[in-house]
Amino acid sequence: MPSAVSTTQFRGYAIHDTKNWTSFKLIDFEPKPFEDYDIDIKIEYCGVCGSDVHTITGGWGKPALPIVPGHEIVGKAVRVGSMVSSIKVGDRVGVGAQICSCMNCAHCKNDDEQYCPKRIYTYNSRYHNAERTLSQGGYSTAVRAHEQFVFPIPDEMPLEEAAPMLCAGLTVYSPLVRNGAGKGKKVGIVGVGGLGHFAIQFAKALECDDVVVFSHSPKKRDDAMTLGATDVVFTCKDGFEEPLVGQLDLIICTANVSDSALLRGLMSTLKIHGRLIMVAMPDESLPSLMSTDLAMNGALLGGSLIGSKKEALSMLDLAVRKGVKPWIDVVPMKDCGKAVRAVKDGKIRYRRVLKMDIE
Ligand SMILES: NC(=O)c1ccc[n+]([C@@H]2O[C@H](COP(=O)([O-])OP(=O)(O)OC[C@H]3O[C@@H](n4cnc5c(N)ncnc54)[C@H](OP(=O)(O)O)[C@@H]3O)[C@@H](O)[C@H]2O)c1
Ligand SMILES: [Zn+2]
Ligand SMILES: [Zn+2]
Repeated sequence: MPSAVSTTQFRGYAIHDTKNWTSFKLIDFEPKPFEDYDIDIKIEYCGVCGSDVHTITGGWGKPALPIVPGHEIVGKAVRVGSMVSSIKVGDRVGVGAQICSCMNCAHCKNDDEQYCPKRIYTYNSRYHNAERTLSQGGYSTAVRAHEQFVFPIPDEMPLEEAAPMLCAGLTVYSPLVRNGAGKGKKVGIVGVGGLGHFAIQFAKALECDDVVVFSHSPKKRDDAMTLGATDVVFTCKDGFEEPLVGQLDLIICTANVSDSALLRGLMSTLKIHGRLIMVAMPDESLPSLMSTDLAMNGALLGGSLIGSKKEALSMLDLAVRKGVKPWIDVVPMKDCGKAVRAVKDGKIRYRRVLKMDIE
């Protein structure tokens, strides 16, 4: 049985100023009031996501400060509300980038709760309660989340390997499945990073015929092949798209697409009515396109936000059955400043996971 954490005060590593975004200091913070469907998780590990960096650097706008990032959280349930039916104290569980939604709208009732207009993200989000409680993330001792957003971790999966699945894994699994990845399909994955290295593995696990990886890093070729790519294309080369024009059913883009030529080139590799789904959320706007760039093959450009609980559970099941595993290095949580720096500098192969070290 896990030892208890305080039910009124959690403690985490926080950024106080977006200009000093590697300088974390410990803070105590109060979670939202505990309700009937809530679960408190004593955190053991938390992955470091590219979104943590966008948030603490102010790339997506000024965050609420101080801010404790982290939304790839795993640990043990230490307190469960009176209405919780699927989780009991002591269970191995995790939380991704969302911890609450209205549970009542059409999206929430249709396994699309990540698209609920009242969604609460795991950090930097305010609850709709009277206190307007600010959510704080997983570089911390504990997290409080609604049962719908707490995922049981399969026994076969080490907790530290489960952590990055809950944002990076789910964010690519959902658009792969929703856009028909499977037998008979040729899929492209842009970027070999935290999200990208899962996308390659899940495309393979879903039995796509071809998994073409687009990368700007020639050094990642061998890694991409080991992860399951059938071909690796370097986007820095002029005309990189030419051998692939009109061939792909679907592209999942996990990297910043900085210029029009790159985006135009990627779109041209799609079959008629093929789709490019942009899951990366860079600080900058997308480059401009002429509508003729989309018209030539009737291509579609879209987006996708994390995934639903239903998808999280099927993803974890598939990962166990097909041996999908993140490539991780585990460091003490106090090294979160170095970890976010390394993510920003593109130095991680391919996910850093923080191990709880707060007394
Ligand atoms: N939609 C959602 O719900 C959601 C959820 C989670 C994360 N995200 C977003 O997804 C993005 C990726 O997150 P991550 O955690 O995978 O980050 P990451 O591990 O840092 O991966 C960064 C990616 O960017 C590419 N890259 C690095 N330097 C680059 C450069 N100079 N030019 C172009 N590409 C470069 C890398 O691929 P190569 O070296 O192979 O080119 C790598 O795929 C972030 O924008 C994050 O906010 C979105
Ligand atoms: Zn994330
Ligand atoms: Zn809703």
